[in-house]
Amino acid sequence: MEERWIKHYSSFHRILLVGEGDFSFSLSLADAFGSASNIVASSLDSYDELITKYKKANSNLVHLKNMGAFILHGVDATEMEHRSDLGKQKFDRIIFNLPHAGFHGQEMLPHVISLHRKLLRGFFRNACGMLQKNGEIHVSHKTKCPYSEWKIEDLAAEYSLMLIECSDFKIEDYPGYKHKRGDGSRCDEPFSLGECSTFKFMFCPAAGKMQRIGGREFQVIPVLTEQHSTSFYKQLPLCRFTNMNDVPLYTGLTSQAHIRNECSRIFGGYLNHVKETFGRTSYDVHGSLNDALRLGFEQYMREGRGRPLSGYIDILEELHHRSISRSQWLIWMLSDLDMEQ
Ligand SMILES: C[S@@+](CC[C@H](N)C(=O)[O-])C[C@H]1O[C@@H](n2cnc3c(N)ncnc32)[C@H](O)[C@@H]1O
Repeated sequence: MEERWIKHYSSFHRILLVGEGDFSFSLSLADAFGSASNIVASSLDSYDELITKYKKANSNLVHLKNMGAFILHGVDATEMEHRSDLGKQKFDRIIFNLPHAGFHGQEMLPHVISLHRKLLRGFFRNACGMLQKNGEIHVSHKTKCPYSEWKIEDLAAEYSLMLIECSDFKIEDYPGYKHKRGDGSRCDEPFSLGECSTFKFMFCPAAGKMQRIGGREFQVIPVLTEQHSTSFYKQLPLCRFTNMNDVPLYTGLTSQAHIRNECSRIFGGYLNHVKETFGRTSYDVHGSLNDALRLGFEQYMREGRGRPLSGYIDILEELHHRSISRSQWLIWMLSDLDMEQ
């Protein structure tokens, strides 16, 4: 059977969807795959609640079933690992789109934020044990305040889930998908998505653990394995770790000057630090770094003409982040050696 893709999802992935509204997202994946035999789609609502809430729920469910999907209702994502029909299964992708604990007051109120955080905590706690090796949990989520206050990366890290990518979520990537408010009298209506991202997490036992070294606390951010980092880097141009949407498209000299400025913004501190710490060395750190940045940039542009510069800058930011992670990891390893002596 030929493999088919839609955005991050392949017809070869075993996919679990939780918290579905009218099941149009599941159907969008199934339509792209030409089959739903790899899909387990679920809702918190019972079947009766669904057909009362959403006009198209019934027809979407009929289509999904005809295409081979396994459908479940009344699935609480914060309890699902205990279900006999679900808990023992393993998935390559577990997806919760636009999680929301319902309307309990203004979204910026601390107790409302805390309800949403509780939902996600429960979801991560359950989902992390239901992943295949190298499986991923995907949460699409609005990123502007007050939604950013949910701090979903921190919640995931509590369950050893490491953020591996955060890519723009665009509803038009999923034909037929109609996102829903899901609660209240206007439950069948959409809401404004604004800035929204798909947060991708992988299980990594050391992630998020705090380590006390010499009186200071460090969060362990593991260095990715070779295998992870290959797929990680393949996806990097899609990442958005900073808010640099306004960076112009690649247009030649102006943009090259822009990227040079960004390089010195990101790496300038390192170079100064190397100079201050080691003084003059026979190894030309500055020159090598410049060469690496130039070659990396040329390769990035070769791989897709007209790519936005923001993608390359995101790669630099990610390198920066990984460099900090490596330092933390090194300190952690060295402190172990220290203790053994
Ligand atoms: C904003 S709606 C989004 C619905 C759907 N995912 C979509 O994209 O259209 C939030 C959804 O979260 C679901 N939800 C809330 N608490 C849940 C829980 N504990 N387990 C599973 N789903 C839950 C609701 O039933 C609702 O469908």
